[in-house]
Amino acid sequence: MTKKIGIVTGGGDCPGLNAVIRAIVKAGGLYGWECFGIHGGFDGLLTPVQAMPLATKDMDGLLIRGGTILGTANSGQFSAKTGHGELRQVPQKILTQAKTNFDALGLFALVAIGGDGTLTIAQQMFEMGFPIVGVPKTIDNDLDATQTTFGFDTAVACAVDALDRLHSTAQSHNRVMVLEVMGRYAGWIAAYAGLAGGADVILIPEIKFNYDAIQRKIQTREAEGKYFTIVIVAEGATIEGQGFVTSNKKTCNDRETRLGGIGHMVATKIETRSKKETRCVVLGHLQRGGQPTQWDRQLCTRFGVHAFQMIVRKQFGFMVALNKNGMMGPVTLKDAINKIRRVDPAGELVMTARALGISFGD
Ligand code: F6P
Repeated sequence: MTKKIGIVTGGGDCPGLNAVIRAIVKAGGLYGWECFGIHGGFDGLLTPVQAMPLATKDMDGLLIRGGTILGTANSGQFSAKTGHGELRQVPQKILTQAKTNFDALGLFALVAIGGDGTLTIAQQMFEMGFPIVGVPKTIDNDLDATQTTFGFDTAVACAVDALDRLHSTAQSHNRVMVLEVMGRYAGWIAAYAGLAGGADVILIPEIKFNYDAIQRKIQTREAEGKYFTIVIVAEGATIEGQGFVTSNKKTCNDRETRLGGIGHMVATKIETRSKKETRCVVLGHLQRGGQPTQWDRQLCTRFGVHAFQMIVRKQFGFMVALNKNGMMGPVTLKDAINKIRRVDPAGELVMTARALGISFGD
């Protein structure tokens, strides 16, 4: 009998989701397996079910298309994280309803493509009997169990492009330009983009900053005859003695707190202190849109094919990961979730930046 695989995308979207879907459908098709897309995140498994068949012929063009053809959600009945990442158990009756519908669809397995929140839901579903396999997605690159997540490289490319553009206008006007990037509680996007885009100051959640240090960097540059300064700040960066800057604190009882606003705060303070004209650009969801880079395309394709192979082997309750040797391998969902990988303040990445005189605001 033909076996059927369900595919669901959860959490925030990111470039490469469609490339993973394509890889699973194409690899499955060659085996004679059928795939079904679950729409709108896990809620698509609730009554009325939102599922549609995905055939190999439908996959044309998906390797390079941003977003997800299945739609996604980072709120709703299945949210497993609230506030600043606090755990929440998906209600049993929701899981039971989803399982009943999953069985009625005749699905053999479910592939859950998402970040820590989605994979936490996947683990809860696995524990109640879902044959499930995870694929690690997030522009934040903050999952400890894999060397990298897909979507991150594309987000960094977007931030580097923004820094390149900000350089010329900053130089023309002798201004300070502040670029706020995403990344939640990890500074990977800011650190990698800052290094590749020639930022003078990189502010990340892993290193608390103060304005005196930023001011010193601006003054050093002025003394060298450089009258512009580029600052990249991660949305989760914090000032010494202060907490996260957030934009939906009051409305986040059943969902994760939205970070953001630190860029404008930093820009205002720099302008007041340095008396230099300062502007802020919030890159926001531009980092999540558009075509995936070549790295993300091949990573997604490898993740998708290996996820399918894990299903063939009935390796359920696992996530496919890129290991230290650059190979694909399984990691249990249990070991993969709730472990955030953050930039090491004493690590090679930060040390390399410091060796160039880049300030971390400390
Ligand atoms: O986790 C991905 C991410 O883009 C974070 O970097 C960011 O904090 C968050 O999602 C934004 O979420 P939303 O799309 O709900 O504003």
